Amino acid sequence: MSFERDNLRKMTGYASGEQPEDPKTIKLNTNENPYPASTRVRDVLDQFDVESLRRYPPATSIGFRQAAAELHGVNPENIIATRGGDELLRLVITTFVDPGERIGMSYPTYSLYPVLAQIQDCPTFEVPLNDDWSVPENFAAEMNNAGVKLTFLVNPHAPSGHLVPAEQITQLAQQLDSILLLDEAYIDFTGEKATSPALAVASNNVIILRTLSKGYSLAGLRFGYGIGPESLIEPMMTKTRDSYNLDGISQQVAEAALRDQEHARKSWKKVISERTRVQSALAEMGFIVPDSHTNFLLATVPLGKRPAEEERVEEMDNAETLYKKLKERHILVRYFNAPRMQDKLRISIGTPEENDRLLNAIREIYGSR
Ligand SMILES: Cc1ncc(COP(=O)(O)O)c(C=O)c1O
Repeated sequence: MSFERDNLRKMTGYASGEQPEDPKTIKLNTNENPYPASTRVRDVLDQFDVESLRRYPPATSIGFRQAAAELHGVNPENIIATRGGDELLRLVITTFVDPGERIGMSYPTYSLYPVLAQIQDCPTFEVPLNDDWSVPENFAAEMNNAGVKLTFLVNPHAPSGHLVPAEQITQLAQQLDSILLLDEAYIDFTGEKATSPALAVASNNVIILRTLSKGYSLAGLRFGYGIGPESLIEPMMTKTRDSYNLDGISQQVAEAALRDQEHARKSWKKVISERTRVQSALAEMGFIVPDSHTNFLLATVPLGKRPAEEERVEEMDNAETLYKKLKERHILVRYFNAPRMQDKLRISIGTPEENDRLLNAIREIYGSR
């Protein structure tokens, strides 16, 4: 006899990206920032008062929320701090969606969304993106007709890097009958000023997700936050969130990193410039690489080309074969064995040296192109 809930017994959990044991591995598979966090993070850790750990931390992460509120020109009541953006996703579901109610999303999308929906025993409703990864005109109408209670939209999009124009986001928010969770995990790499915090706060149905994992080089810290109208933030703050969801160390580290915008912006600029370089180099080798507004590229492996040492490889195995051959050379990228993704690799942008190693390895595999 199993005590596990029925829906959980039927599901498989989220598959995290591989974490290599060999520290020399070039890790371009989980969209981490290749540059170090602000030196202020080191200062906080050096000066941290260990004695303070005897007491519970600030319950609502008020210091961090004030910093985030100042940054976005909103009030601390419009901000909730969470254990990574992932905790916010879980909170939004458990606060606003009853088991059995529908959760909407695009296809493809961040693969954690359907897993979290399954945990809550909620069916998912997917609307396929257009061929160029743009959001179809009828997206909101489809969601409304299906009666979804919560719609997830990741912008810029993962795994393609496509950016939905701000006007379309505004329109979607107005058209949707549901809550719109706008996942802006990669917004820092768009190179444009995001206007969406103001949109969310002025709405009654938009919550924005932000994370320190990518733009602030702190994936290991596990810190993210939500921005939205008080009517949506308040129930998560006071009811569904764990009473002390963020420890005292990470609250101080996260606040210091967020306040050092100058440092973060420098890393975004470097990532953007390398992204352009890697995109061109891959395109020269015959890959199809759409413009990306994130810290990764989604590259379609050229059809008809075969890794030099392979005798016969089926077309659809191309991307997987390249992924494996890179892995043999201690370079990790992401391959998704899923519809519309089997001929593609998602490649995080690394340092110039890491990117050169990747590009040289691909040239070598394809026989010196
Ligand atoms: C689209 C998207 N949303 C949210 C997250 C959550 O990030 P974290 O929990 O590290 O803040 C990620 C992480 O990879 C992501 O890719």
